[in-house]
Order: sequence, then C-alpha cells, then structure tokens
Amino acid sequence: MNDSDNQAPVLPPAVLPGTPHIAYRGGELHVEGAALAALADAHATPLFVYSKAAMLQALDAYRRGFAGRHATICYAMKANSSLAVLQLFAAAGCGFDIVSGGELERVLAAGGDPAKVIFSGVGKTRAEMRRALDAGIGCFNVESEAELEVLSAVASEAGRTARVSIRVNPDVDPQTHPYISTGLKGNKFGVSHERALATYQRAASLPGLQVVGIDCHIGSQITQEAPYLDAMERVLDLVSEIEAAGIPIDHIDFGGGLGIDYNGDTPPAADALWSRLLARLDARGHGGKHLMIEPGRSLVGNAGVCVTEVLYLKPGEQKNFCIVDAAMNDLPRPAMYQAFHAIVPLQEAKQPAAEAYDVVGPVCESGDWIGRARRLDVAAGDRLAVLSAGAYCMSMSSNYNTRGRAAEVLVDGAQAHLIRRREAAADTFAHEVLLPS
Ligand code: LLP
Repeated sequence: MNDSDNQAPVLPPAVLPGTPHIAYRGGELHVEGAALAALADAHATPLFVYSKAAMLQALDAYRRGFAGRHATICYAMKANSSLAVLQLFAAAGCGFDIVSGGELERVLAAGGDPAKVIFSGVGKTRAEMRRALDAGIGCFNVESEAELEVLSAVASEAGRTARVSIRVNPDVDPQTHPYISTGLKGNKFGVSHERALATYQRAASLPGLQVVGIDCHIGSQITQEAPYLDAMERVLDLVSEIEAAGIPIDHIDFGGGLGIDYNGDTPPAADALWSRLLARLDARGHGGKHLMIEPGRSLVGNAGVCVTEVLYLKPGEQKNFCIVDAAMNDLPRPAMYQAFHAIVPLQEAKQPAAEAYDVVGPVCESGDWIGRARRLDVAAGDRLAVLSAGAYCMSMSSNYNTRGRAAEVLVDGAQAHLIRRREAAADTFAHEVLLPS
C-alpha cells in the first residue's frame, strides 16, 4: 500500500485491475453494459458507479470455497454501507458484520435478517447493545472483559440472552499498512491469547450471556496466505483449550481482511484461500463447525469506480497538477494511507502520455491528492475514472469543505440505478441550528 508508482504503466493496462465487469468496450470505459461517459452526463461528477455482477462474482468465490460446509458470510458493511448494496447482499443470503447502532439501522432498512447480524467493535454503548438485543441479532463479538460485564448487565435488565463470541487477538502480523493491522498485540482490538480462556470462563458464568463462538480479525488488504494460516492455528489452539474447559464453541469466525488488486496486487482468490484453510481446519478436526467470515473490501472494492472531471491543468516547475472535481472528502484513502488507486481516462488512450501529473482535488489541504506522478493525456473537461473505489471510499466520505457527498449508481447489465442522490449544500447543514437573534 504505497503510492510509489514510478513504474506506473504509460498506457492504462488493457485489462484493468480487479474485475472483467469494468472494461473498455469500443474504446469507451464501461461498467457492465453502461458507458461511464453517459452516466457522468446524466448524473454529473464526482460519481461512484458500481457493478452488481462484480459484487456477486466476488461473493460467489467465497461461496465456492465454502461449498458443502455450514458457513455464513457476514458482509463487513463498513466497506460500503449504501442501502442498495446491503439490499443486494441481503437478497443473496448474506449476513452482516456491523460496528455501530447506525449500521444496524441500515441493515434493517435494507431488509437484512437481524438473526444473521454480528456486532463487532471495541466500544459498543449500552444503548447500542439494547437496540441490538431487541432487534434479535445473531451474536455480539465481544472485544474486552469490561464489555462482557456491561453486556451481561444490559441483557439481564432487558430479560434477554445475548449470544456472544469473544474476539481473540492471535498476535500475527498481517503484513499490511499499520493503520489496518488489527491482530497484533499492540492493537486495541480483541482479548489477548493469554487472557482468552479466563475471559471465556467469565462469560460462561455471567447471567444473560450464552457463549456461542470465537472470533478473530487480523487486518485488512491482506495479500498473503500465511497470516491467515497462522491466525487459524492460534485460534484453533484456543478452541481446543476452551472446549476442554467445558465450554462448547459452536462457530468460528475468521473475520475479513482479504485484499484486492489496486496496483498489480495478487491476493489469493477467496476460493483457493479457503480450500487451503478448510483443509487445515479438517486436519485439526474442526471442519464440521459453523464457520463465519466477515469480508468487506474483497466483496465490493474492485466493483466500483469514481468518475471525476478534470477542472484545470496546472503545469509547474517541479510537477504538473491535474485538478479534478473529486477530492479527499470523496476518496480519503490516498490521504489517509498513501493508498494507490489506478486512474484511467474514460476514452481508452491510444498513445503513451507525454506528461505526468499529480491528480489532486479542490480541498484546501496539501494532503488532498488522489494519485501521484500519473501519466495521463488529459485536458480540462475530460473525465477520469478512479478504480477500485467500491470499498472504504463512499463509506468514509465526509462533507469537509462543505462539499456534498457524491451520487452513486449501481449498474445491473444495461440498467443503471441511481442509488444515492448527490447531496446539495443545504443537505450538509440541515441539522445545524442558528443562535437566537
Ligand atoms: N471485521 C472486522 C472486525 C473489521 O474490523 C474489518 C475491517 C472487517 C471485518 C473487514 O475487513 P476487510 O475484509 O474489508 O478487509 N479503511 C481502511 C480499512 C479499514 C478496515 C477496518 N476493519 C482502508 O480503506 O483500507
């Protein structure tokens, strides 16, 4: 995850990263059957466009991996929590991994099944716990001993039973960006391996709780298999210990984290990864358990693009800037993690570009960049597509600089559905209150 793209290709690759559903056809960039230029004409820019087929294809890879198993795929909706995206995964039979009461309300609004919801996160409030219990969610992924005590009290008071799984921290290095590593000892997440058994014993003794599973999540944008295998071994060691202490574990949740192709990255395919993990699970005698996973990015990341218009070219002594109408409030990943997103023209380039540009947005911060030293043949008014923008872009967007959030379109074959209207300035301050005059 870095933007050191000195070796960036001069021409956009014929096959764009990630999915065959986003490709040039007749020289024009399409998402499935829809030309992005036509969508940008109809809905203006910046505009997020998603491919339904790409999302379902990504889901199918997991499904193939789990064929014949008792498994539940809980989409980690923080990656992209737009209602229509949730609706699509709910209709496909997915559960959801949520991290706030707000996400639960989105699942319910999109027609998701609360019984397939698991609630992760280190800082659940009492009100969030109560609402989740009333909605009948499937499981709380408890992240600390203190949280266990509070959940027990909230459930007892409500006369309900909270099904719990404890998130254990397997202390493995996922070899990814430090901000998105979560399974190391120094992270705020989960209960340490050493404290896990005692925490389970405490959970089993508390009123209002029913221990049902164990959970881990080691990080995000993981492109190697080894961290998963290591984490699995560590979790299975604990499962044996906990069960030997007389506490049955019905499900094992291995979290999310599988990476996608941003810049020639080659993460394992979900089905290949899982066939190896399942072989290991079988070898250790746990293959018959209910398995759960929480993939986010790998289901939606490569399924989306952000279309943006070039506002100005600004040649400089040291570098050239290409100023576009999308910014760090729409696409926060480069500013936050120095993340790379490919940027390609909507009309396929016919010849190598002579100039390199830093592609930047209008926000008043030097950190507001989207790509550095990109070779582009562009003029003001041209439109570009920022690729692999289906995950952690719209869901992390903000109104900084009082910029309304972009519109979103979901393409299904030749049909394009507007799934989020562009925010007007008035929408961005609708909840604010003037002082009495
Ligand atoms: N489960 C838990 C408990 C998580 O914390 C996360 C992500 C996931 C599942 C899903 O992980 P995924 O399959 O999407 O890698 N904003 C960052 C990524 C933050 C990930 C946070 N947790 C980015 O843009 O790269």
